[in-house]
Amino acid sequence: SGDVASRIDYVFKVVLIGDSAVGKSQILSRFARNEFSLDSKATIGVEFQTRTLVIEHKSVKAQIWDTAGQERYRAVTSAYYRGAVGAMLVYDITRRQSFEHIPRWLEELRSHADKNIVIMLVGNKTDLEKQRAVSTEDAKEFAEKEGLFFLETSALNASNVESAFLTVLTEIF
Ligand code: GTP
Ligand code: MG
Repeated sequence: SGDVASRIDYVFKVVLIGDSAVGKSQILSRFARNEFSLDSKATIGVEFQTRTLVIEHKSVKAQIWDTAGQERYRAVTSAYYRGAVGAMLVYDITRRQSFEHIPRWLEELRSHADKNIVIMLVGNKTDLEKQRAVSTEDAKEFAEKEGLFFLETSALNASNVESAFLTVLTEIF
């Protein structure tokens, strides 16, 4: 048949990491199914969802992996990062601590993942602008210093979610 699944040109694995409750699972849900839930449960272990899209006339299956931010629910780290060509490093713009933990996540990522992995720093929950605790400038400066892409998103109102994934996927390409 001529359906898109029968002619996948590339499969790209992208991992989501960051503190618990920053919105990793909802970012994934928004990207993969265009859905959002306010009563999202903490992730236990590892889950993944896929979405196939066309980039530069090629059919690309994005396989997005999502794990628990909570240490006690995390699965074996090396297996999670194996084969990943992209990563989304997520913090919550309303929770300073989730941004302060980003260097740790980056260290874990760099010690387990391929050295050519494409990394996007993502400040999520921009719909909560009034509660902002991390300035765009601080995050941008950090991203530049570390050589990361950077975008602020809202899984709730879908702002920049598509752009964040498309930037990473296009760059992998
Ligand atoms: P763990 O699985 O524990 O690592 O957490 P997580 O990073 O996957 O967080 P999750 O996606 O489950 O979201 C945590 C909470 O934040 C839920 O109540 C979500 O509905 C909420 N949330 C996620 N994204 C947004 C957003 O963009 N805006 C707002 N206002 N809330 C969000
Ligand atoms: Mg989750």
